[in-house]
Amino acid sequence: MSRSAHPAGPRHADVWPEGHYSAPPADLNALDPKVWAQTVTRTDTGEVSVGGIGVAALAEEFGTPAYFVDETDFRARARAWRTAFGHDADVFYAGKAFLSRAIVRWLHEEGLNLDVCSGGELTTALSAGMPADRIAFHGNNKSTDEITQAIEAGVGRIVLDSFQEIVRVAHIAQSLGTRQRVQIRVTVGVEAHTHEFIATAHEDQKFGIALADGQAAEAVRRALTLDGLELIGIHSHIGSQIFDMAGFEVAARRVVALLAAVRDEHGVELPEIDLGGGLGIAYTSDDDPREPHEIAKALGEIVTRECEAAKLRTPRISVEPGRAIVGPTALTLYEVGTIKPLEGLRTYVSVDGGMSDNIRTALYDAEYSVALVSRTSDAEPMLVRVVGKHCESGDIVVKDAFLPSDLAPGDLIAVPATGAYCRSMASNYNHALRPPVVAVRDGEARVIVRRETEEDLLRLDVG
Ligand code: LLP
Repeated sequence: MSRSAHPAGPRHADVWPEGHYSAPPADLNALDPKVWAQTVTRTDTGEVSVGGIGVAALAEEFGTPAYFVDETDFRARARAWRTAFGHDADVFYAGKAFLSRAIVRWLHEEGLNLDVCSGGELTTALSAGMPADRIAFHGNNKSTDEITQAIEAGVGRIVLDSFQEIVRVAHIAQSLGTRQRVQIRVTVGVEAHTHEFIATAHEDQKFGIALADGQAAEAVRRALTLDGLELIGIHSHIGSQIFDMAGFEVAARRVVALLAAVRDEHGVELPEIDLGGGLGIAYTSDDDPREPHEIAKALGEIVTRECEAAKLRTPRISVEPGRAIVGPTALTLYEVGTIKPLEGLRTYVSVDGGMSDNIRTALYDAEYSVALVSRTSDAEPMLVRVVGKHCESGDIVVKDAFLPSDLAPGDLIAVPATGAYCRSMASNYNHALRPPVVAVRDGEARVIVRRETEEDLLRLDVG
């Protein structure tokens, strides 16, 4: 996948991207369960339903565009991660993927912990009743206010991201008369994306403290001397949308080597390691993600093996999946508007949302699937590009896909796997009103984040 996009988004006049699936799927009405949320199904009338409710009724009641999250699927995925990692490990859902108070309550009920990376996420978590000791606080530039808020709330851990932060957190904790449990985030010289990983000697990035040149060892040395800190472990996060476990293997090996070095130098065996998030999901039928139990088994085996070799007690492992839990559980429902056929090229299908509700295609060249969901069709497939209504040619939702050639304005189409990093990265570009998030379950629908209104826009604009 290309990582270099046109400044205004991916190029928009090319024909067929190399290496892309070149033929339409055998059945345009089929819904690949890999890509769609668990309860999504086509009913006898040909309409698609989610959580037991047809999309036409959902569009009627909640409008479009809107995100619909399948609560049954979310809970099942959260539970699958929890069960796969068992009692000797912890799962921290990464709230940056998507966070709301309902989500926090579901996580709490399903026994998951929560990773937050801003004061706003922390406030949301606390206000929905997540116990503070089950929250990890992240960020490469936490403000003094955020650190104070986190320590006062009693968060279970702060993940230290820099040398300055080691001192800052220690100082604030001490002045509050407490000792804060912390991990140190290291960069292990591994960067992983999808099917490959790259091992680099030095990490050219803003996060964490490099293992290279003894920097992480020095960070541990400093943290161990400060009264305000209780160093409980080492943290590593290697990338996003990863299918290949090899990157985690290298990361785990390097983190365990640091634990062994710490034991040799200080006589201390740090009790925890966190291997971060980044596990991939299926955006299209071409993607083959791993199941949580396979991931848990692979990570457990790697860490146990490396610890045995280094004669270390196996530390408690934690992971931070965001996308892998929430990503597949939601779809975005759009109404088709303008249709512009370009003879011999493709058909542009405009929808009533766009880059304001899904920036990932413009930002990362991300790939998505799309289907006609308000009815079935036996018409011939046509190559489409689903675009938004923003004043920008890079405003693309789905780069290349097939929809039936009888598609018409007023039809409903849905983009699956939009649970992660869509609503959480949504914007008001062109003064778009950010869509609602509606939870559906067993025939009932409930707004968990309401649609923005023009009043909301004007309330911020003080004139
Ligand atoms: N832990 C840490 C420390 C992270 O930085 C992240 C993501 C996660 C966990 C969760 O990663 P996940 O399992 O959700 O992949 N906006 C981008 C993704 C940015 C991820 C940043 N960190 C996207 O839309 O693909």
